[in-house]
Amino acid sequence: VDLHLIPGAAASEEERRAIDAAVDSPERRGPGRRHMLLPALQAAQARVGWISPGAINHIARRLDVPPAEAYGVATFYAMLSVEPRPGRIVHVCDDIACRTRGAESLCAALSARLGPEGRPSKDGRCLWMRSPCLGQCERAPAALVQVAGSEPFEASLAPAAVESMLGAPSPPSHALVPQTDGLRLLRRVGRVDPTSLEAYRASGGTASLRRAFALGPEGVVREVVASKLVGRGGAAFPTGRKWEAVAREPARPHYFVLNADESEPGTFKDRVLMEEDPFAVIEATTIAGYATGSERGYAYVRGEYPLAAERLEQAIRRCRDAGLLGDDILGSGFSFDVELRRGAGAYICGEETALFNSIEGLRGEPRQKPPFPVQAGLFGKPTAINNVETIVNLLEILPAGGAAFASVGSGTSTGTKLFCVSGAVRRPGLYEVPFGTTLRALLDQAGTDRLRAVLLGGAAGAFVTPAELDVPLTFEGVRAVGATIGSGVVMAFDDRADLGDLLLRIAAFFRDESCGQCVPCRVGTVRQEEALRRLAAGTSSPGELGLVGEIGQAMRDASICGLGQTASSAVESALRKFRVFANHG
Ligand SMILES: Cc1cc2nc3c(=O)[nH]c(=O)nc-3n(C[C@H](O)[C@H](O)[C@H](O)COP(=O)(O)O)c2cc1C
Ligand code: SF4
Ligand code: FES
Repeated sequence: VDLHLIPGAAASEEERRAIDAAVDSPERRGPGRRHMLLPALQAAQARVGWISPGAINHIARRLDVPPAEAYGVATFYAMLSVEPRPGRIVHVCDDIACRTRGAESLCAALSARLGPEGRPSKDGRCLWMRSPCLGQCERAPAALVQVAGSEPFEASLAPAAVESMLGAPSPPSHALVPQTDGLRLLRRVGRVDPTSLEAYRASGGTASLRRAFALGPEGVVREVVASKLVGRGGAAFPTGRKWEAVAREPARPHYFVLNADESEPGTFKDRVLMEEDPFAVIEATTIAGYATGSERGYAYVRGEYPLAAERLEQAIRRCRDAGLLGDDILGSGFSFDVELRRGAGAYICGEETALFNSIEGLRGEPRQKPPFPVQAGLFGKPTAINNVETIVNLLEILPAGGAAFASVGSGTSTGTKLFCVSGAVRRPGLYEVPFGTTLRALLDQAGTDRLRAVLLGGAAGAFVTPAELDVPLTFEGVRAVGATIGSGVVMAFDDRADLGDLLLRIAAFFRDESCGQCVPCRVGTVRQEEALRRLAAGTSSPGELGLVGEIGQAMRDASICGLGQTASSAVESALRKFRVFANHG
């Protein structure tokens, strides 16, 4: 490739070393070199706090990628910067759950202490910036600090630690899982040491993998079909059908991809599973790889989840050492390994084909379908991709059998479901209930007062009213109130919440996160936000509410992917059910 390097820009010694270590890592595998682009950019960012033109040139040379393309990828991600920036960054969530729990006062405190958002502090050492949901809604208001250097450091912070500005991070003080009875997927959380393979084994771990090898790949798929398991990542697609399709594809290799990008505002369930039960996630990934005939697995973890990534990485190493990953696992003849990749701040990279592009070193833009991932997914090969919660269900399905699993739940919604409960509740956290439990029963466990509205399914979901609380939480049940289960978000708002302000935040989220590839979403998300701002300010023209509905319809009908298709759903549900702005439009 004729590289056209940036004139006069050379990488420093430390940039070169960081980039070379990422590129030369024997653990990174894939066809060609382009797939190492994002890890290389992340290495430069973590070393010096930004990606300099010299670093871009060095990466371009090492990977044979034109600097313009490396720059195009670097600028796609919110956590990467191609402008000089201090080495300490504090990301403060100002998204919907955190807004109702003091995010704005935290931002005001940081502003007073460090100066305006996005600018270096007076001593030039740090910078703070607002962020969409950081996936820590149960401990809102949430923050994340990143410190660049020879030993880069990242941690989620409690507000007290943020305010005392980069003091030692204090661990969360409340229970992640407030519920004590009826736990299946969450039974080890807070009870079994997540860093110990021995403790995992002692609690029953690896029994499902052995069972899988006894059943054979087709037997595993048969049990998963019988379980009627459907995906928990938002689209509710039957897992067994997806796996059958991948397993019968003749092209090789096959890949299994774990979607751990969890960026839907209000969602933190996969983070809890990865942080607190990482060996279960790796065991389930290995079983999924076995059932789909995959040679290799990738776990793509959201960039804002440092502890989840660390725990998974550690679990992968321990499993390799113990013969649970690698060649001829447990003497079964099956060889499989998992590589961890990290996102860098882009909601759209949770969409499966955008995620493949991100791993391949391209901008994280969704692909047109067909072809579907089961035929041509990662690196153009047959790929099964599943959400973290989806596959952790395998550890329930295999020991007792698919039929037993299917007997829990209601109708076509089988098994239990994790719900991320946040906002105006007394006991925020992760709950696990059988499908079919009512929303009221779930909220009673979490404790609410003066409830005004509940957001179900996340920013891409819909609002429900207190009169609709008896809806059963099943895929079909919530449809009756115009909602979706989505990624399991249950965010409560009491009568002090400013719904208009929340709608503006949701609209800003979609405008910001649209990848811009297709017109209905690129333009529609901007127009939606503008119309809502006029409505909120009382400067709208007659018929403006109708215009919001028309924009929503256009985005639903004509957008390429689910982001544009759902960008108006929460907004429209609130306008309809709560008559927000009804006096203005
Ligand atoms: C904008 C957008 C974001 C998404 N984000 C995620 C995500 O963070 N995690 C996830 O598992 N699925 C996400 N999905 C759904 C994936 O495309 C895909 O359906 C899912 O990973 C399949 O796994 P499942 O069948 O186990 O749910 C997203 C979809 C869209 C359109
Ligand atoms: S709908 Fe939005 S996010 Fe999806 S491809 Fe189109 S512009 Fe990108
Ligand atoms: S962490 Fe702030 S809304 Fe989720």
